[in-house]
Amino acid sequence: MDTLSEHTPLLGRQAERAELDGLLADVRSGRGRALVLRGEAGVGKSALLQHTVGRAADMRVVRTVGAESEMELAFAGLHLLLAPLLDRIEELPGPQHDALAVAFGLREGDAPCSA
Ligand SMILES: Nc1ncnc2c1ncn2[C@@H]1O[C@H](COP(=O)(O)OP(=O)(O)O)[C@@H](O)[C@H]1O
Ligand SMILES: [Mg+2]
Repeated sequence: MDTLSEHTPLLGRQAERAELDGLLADVRSGRGRALVLRGEAGVGKSALLQHTVGRAADMRVVRTVGAESEMELAFAGLHLLLAPLLDRIEELPGPQHDALAVAFGLREGDAPCSA
């Protein structure tokens, strides 16, 4: 995230903002959501994400970035994203708990699908 995108007011992008506001509303109501935001470099992805984070002050936001050099490391992105939250693993339902525990090497088991 660059400094500029944190301080420049977001212009336009009504459709994208509505979509992202809808995502936040769903998450607030307890529904899990996933969304892929993609586009050419400089098109405004980080600005939109920063704007969305600004509208999620009532939520806990965790973030990570992927590095091509970590492609061969199993669950590298998952580790970066969820390691700070691992103390809450016991709160997860059984299947999700077990999958994460295996991915983090906390217990033995078949590796969850990483594709
Ligand atoms: N809707 C917007 N309104 C104002 N500035 C924007 C908008 N979208 C992008 N920018 C500015 O354009 C530049 C590139 O946007 P950025 O979000 O970093 O692109 P990306 O993440 O897609 O590479 C940044 O300086 C950002 O602040
Ligand atoms: Mg970006």
